[in-house]
Amino acid sequence: MAVREVKLCLLGDSGVGKSSIVMRFVKDTFKEQLESTIGASFMAKRLVVNDNTFLFQIWDTAGQEKYRALAPMYYRGAEAAIVVYDVTREPSFDSVKDWVKELKRNGVSDMVIAIAGNKCDLEDLREVNTKDAQEYSDNIGAIFTETSALTAVNVSELFTSIAKKLPDV
Ligand code: GTP
Ligand code: MG
Repeated sequence: MAVREVKLCLLGDSGVGKSSIVMRFVKDTFKEQLESTIGASFMAKRLVVNDNTFLFQIWDTAGQEKYRALAPMYYRGAEAAIVVYDVTREPSFDSVKDWVKELKRNGVSDMVIAIAGNKCDLEDLREVNTKDAQEYSDNIGAIFTETSALTAVNVSELFTSIAKKLPDV
């Protein structure tokens, strides 16, 4: 059966865990001290959902401010985006809203957007309410989930939900 290729990019503040989510999904590993991404990094991963094979082509962008101007190179033409924030850092959730505005303006019109509140293992340090983030995501028609790259909770499910929401080709 044909393989459905999906170009996807991850966006969000530096340190929220974009690369960690990708590492968990692609290699099923986690690093306590991961290097901050320079520019962007690419990985591919196959995923089978309901008998359909998807080949995710994942662009993991760098969150540091100095790389912000590079982001359009990665989200342009992407069919799906995961916008990540850190549930223990409220400002990283404000940045999600800026990214979503930018994607709605410059991304493909039927882009599948997923919002991921990462580091949900750090419940004691939580600053972003689940309900608020869920409501915001519902309002903009995005997938919403809380993930932990550390414990692996909801990481593969995140990609599965995206696959299910992609238009047929
Ligand atoms: P940039 O590449 O700078 O944009 O950052 P990033 O979003 O790729 O973040 P990265 O994956 O490098 O993670 C930053 C730090 O957070 C790392 O030291 C990770 O170990 C840690 N981290 C990532 N995900 C989790 C998580 O789910 N839980 C916890 N407790 N720590 C996490
Ligand atoms: Mg990174």
